[in-house]
Amino acid sequence: MIPDQWYAVLESKEVPAAKPRAFRRLGQDLVFWRDGAGNLSVMPDRCPHRSAQLSLGKVVNGNIECPFHGFQFNTAGHIQLIPANGRNGNKPAAFQCHSFPVREAQGFVWIWNGAPRATYPDLPWFDNLTGLVNAGSFSARWQTHYTRAIEGMLDVSHLPFVHRNTIGRGNATLVNGPYTTIEDNRIRVWYDNQPDAGLPAIKPTEMPPPHRPPLLYFNFPNVWQIGLGAKLRIVNIMAPVDDENTVIYSLTFQGFVRLPGLRKLMDAWFNLFNRYVLNEDYAVARSQRPKKSDLHIGELFIPADRPIALYLQHRRRLIEQVPANAEASE
Ligand code: FES
Ligand SMILES: [Fe+2]
Repeated sequence: MIPDQWYAVLESKEVPAAKPRAFRRLGQDLVFWRDGAGNLSVMPDRCPHRSAQLSLGKVVNGNIECPFHGFQFNTAGHIQLIPANGRNGNKPAAFQCHSFPVREAQGFVWIWNGAPRATYPDLPWFDNLTGLVNAGSFSARWQTHYTRAIEGMLDVSHLPFVHRNTIGRGNATLVNGPYTTIEDNRIRVWYDNQPDAGLPAIKPTEMPPPHRPPLLYFNFPNVWQIGLGAKLRIVNIMAPVDDENTVIYSLTFQGFVRLPGLRKLMDAWFNLFNRYVLNEDYAVARSQRPKKSDLHIGELFIPADRPIALYLQHRRRLIEQVPANAEASE
């Protein structure tokens, strides 16, 4: 995982008001729960007393109560009650649960993967969705590391092969560019795929700066968007479960069908189509080894892979905490 990043990890609606829920995310077993006011708390799903799973407990007076000996912890993870010591008995501070910094926005729970700090960067969301409505979402569990899912979504040369019957129709195998920028932990990609007429592809470095909005957007650490026109956009969130599993949340945003009845039909169709296309990707992504991608794992790149190369390089840089203006060590 990349340190000091906001990771979108699951949908807010997956954490009900009354019941703690267990989810594996960022390689850890976590408990997600809400106090009486609905405030969300995320902690390791392990009691600091005798290691029972806190998610098997319940919420009592705004605290989470361990199912084993009834210890209670508040949303900050501070011990509130040790029943065996008595209501007014000793509550040693050592019985402290780690409580992750969390946010809820855009219908998602975001976890700060790092030490708490006084101020945090903004959530890595998009400002081009204003005016569009969320046309629904679905999730898919992929048995691979989230880097493979992200790579696939930055891959502009797979379309006529993996998606030859859907979004890659037309045999546009030649990739001009892609023109790619990386700035403030955000990657932007413009691609121009064409049927091969015998001319060499234009190299990414020789592409003139485009005068239209990008087609692909990726915001570190795990949020991606494709623009299928100004009024139809798909956002995919790759929630890391662990080194071998990822949950992909796919959301469609649209701005051209407003009539409620028609909208419902269109939304259902968008999601169905979107799920089908994502499954085409999964058929290949699940076969990649190692499951976790990185630089220097014996894989080769072509010019069309520039977005993937920039993603992996920047990811390495962030993991190794190398300032953006310094050369990466590898
Ligand atoms: S194991 Fe949780 S209270 Fe004892
Ligand atoms: Fe794809």
